[in-house]
Amino acid sequence: RSAEGQGTDLAGRHVVVSAGGTREPLDPVRFLGNRSSGKQGYALARTAVARGARVTLVAANSELPDPAGVDVVRVGTAVQMREAVLKAAAAADAVVMAAAVADFRPASYASGKIKKRDGQDPEPVVLVRNPDILAELSADRPRPGQIVVGFAAETDDVLANGRAKLARKGCDLLVVNEVGERKTFGAERSEAVVLAPDGSETPVPYGPKEGLADIVWNLVTERLS
Ligand code: CTP
Ligand code: CA
Repeated sequence: RSAEGQGTDLAGRHVVVSAGGTREPLDPVRFLGNRSSGKQGYALARTAVARGARVTLVAANSELPDPAGVDVVRVGTAVQMREAVLKAAAAADAVVMAAAVADFRPASYASGKIKKRDGQDPEPVVLVRNPDILAELSADRPRPGQIVVGFAAETDDVLANGRAKLARKGCDLLVVNEVGERKTFGAERSEAVVLAPDGSETPVPYGPKEGLADIVWNLVTERLS
């Protein structure tokens, strides 16, 4: 199960975890961002260290302190996160994308602060797509046998949406969190379910983020042979 008993089952392994939320600048003082705190990614990094792994944490705009024993690479934007994750992934046995990566960024960056003009409405903000780091890693593994894990928050038909996303991304595991009050995973209330391409569903009970992190590392360890 969780915390106890894993010892050093990740000893000799190098894992990469992304955390936090990217910010996409509009001008020197403004950005498009999201509310990700980074807590789940940091919990994944801490638990991997506790299990003996060498850990690189690619952290986007998190206010959390650097976890002990973790190599932390700080980034701001999705493009910077892609660069840092791909670089670290070249030597990694597993990559876990817990970060909230902005899907879009402003098409242009104003090098000076955008100012109001008298009586005029602002220019619309034009957005362009960011690279999909998880899909790219999954399609083109930097190392053979590398395990790639994604996270997704879904509403409505959570499992069907999660299954479709797992197939679309091509990753080995997808941790699906249900957003909202209604729980659809049956009697045992779960805060998440981990989906795999073989059809398996691993429910994750309510609890601290370390519990989910340990379940993710259990599933990763099973797949690293
Ligand atoms: N992800 C990524 N790069 C992106 C967007 C997302 O690597 N540009 C990763 C996230 O870190 C997460 C997973 O993909 O592990 C799923 O993110 P999610 O936002 O749920 O997927 P999207 O494909 O962006 O789908 P949606 O349109 O539902 O936002
Ligand atoms: Ca998204």
